[in-house]
Amino acid sequence: MSDTIKIGIAGLGTVGAGLIKIIQKNSKILAARSGKSIEIIAVSALSKSKDRGVDLSAYEWENDPINLAKRDDIDVFVELIGGEDGSAKQATEAAIKHGKHVVTANKAMLAMYGQELAISAESNNVNLRFEAAVAGGIPVIKALTESLAGNNITRIMGVMNGTCNYILTRMEDTGLPYEEIFEEANQLGFLEADPNLDVGGIDAAHKLVLLSSIAYGTQVDFEGAVLEGIGRISIEDIRAASEMGYRIKLLGVSTINKLGLSQTMRPCLVPASSPLAQLDGGTNMIIIEGDAVGQIVLRGAGAGEGPTASAVIADILDIARGINIPVFGQPANSLKKVPSINTTVENSFYLRLNLKDEAGILAKVSAALANAGISIDRIRQEVHETDAAPVIIVTHPTERDLLNKAIAEIEATSAAIDPPVVLRIETV
Ligand code: HSE
Repeated sequence: MSDTIKIGIAGLGTVGAGLIKIIQKNSKILAARSGKSIEIIAVSALSKSKDRGVDLSAYEWENDPINLAKRDDIDVFVELIGGEDGSAKQATEAAIKHGKHVVTANKAMLAMYGQELAISAESNNVNLRFEAAVAGGIPVIKALTESLAGNNITRIMGVMNGTCNYILTRMEDTGLPYEEIFEEANQLGFLEADPNLDVGGIDAAHKLVLLSSIAYGTQVDFEGAVLEGIGRISIEDIRAASEMGYRIKLLGVSTINKLGLSQTMRPCLVPASSPLAQLDGGTNMIIIEGDAVGQIVLRGAGAGEGPTASAVIADILDIARGINIPVFGQPANSLKKVPSINTTVENSFYLRLNLKDEAGILAKVSAALANAGISIDRIRQEVHETDAAPVIIVTHPTERDLLNKAIAEIEATSAAIDPPVVLRIETV
């Protein structure tokens, strides 16, 4: 490569525009730090005429991102189109085949096709970098692939979706129900085009499975992740958790043992005193535990123009510096395929049951728990004016499988009007 690194940017949404602003504004800093000037050659997006608040006149325009990816005059193809397949994937594949390095923010594409894209990139001797795909501005990919590379990573936990964290903390702060705060988040433009990516836990799980792969040297396994969204969290759950000294977070947890890999993304209760509980609004936090380093806590903006563009430019600078690290920290064809397991670690659980208000119903519930060997730590029935009795139970530590057995028995007795809300209580 020459003294200039030439890039093409596909996708001029918030992050694309943010990247162009950084390159225009900080060009001297970028050149000093990487030893090369960063030059944008061409850009591509759906609409050429849209005002994005940046001057694009110096750059060539490509209608088709695949043509941009194949251009002879670029060194790096920056994919900011999004979407797990379609033109984002086709353009990424085209760039790799044509010997271009790729920088992407596309967690969905990597969670589904990361393994094959990484193998292709490595066999074509190009970089495929994705710092911006996980937790926006937090340099967690770099932390895992470089700074913590000497550790046997034992656990990753974190809040990796700012929108869900915003909704949960706003519910707690305002006492307003989920539906109202969901609408507020929508009005503020926080939600993805498909909101289920956020509130269904999918976006956060995409991020978690990418981190697992780097941390444990395993193949990216989105299908093996267990996920549950925040849609059933009610204001009663938020209040009850708070009164017991907890906060509810959409929490990702990834661990590995000799039986396999456990990856869960579910709403959990965390102690109000834990670092995770302090996380308000759209912020992300990732906790990494390694055998040498102990526990590391990374916190910062998980989305937005500046933070995400900051991660994209960091990847471009590393390519300019000539840094070439395997996509997932070790050669992609050496990543192990391991079974996905449900962790057998014991936890306490929070259950909210909407029970029939009849004689003997509570006895059926406690019998189902007892039959599964589960001991009750706390139990509370709220004052109610309807036929449904809201009951909250906190168990002593138990295995999830045993709890599932008890819940199946409760459901078989028709004691509960709705399926119970079950939240793990995580010790952090
Ligand atoms: N929608 C995501 C979030 C940002 O709310 O954190 C992009 O992954």
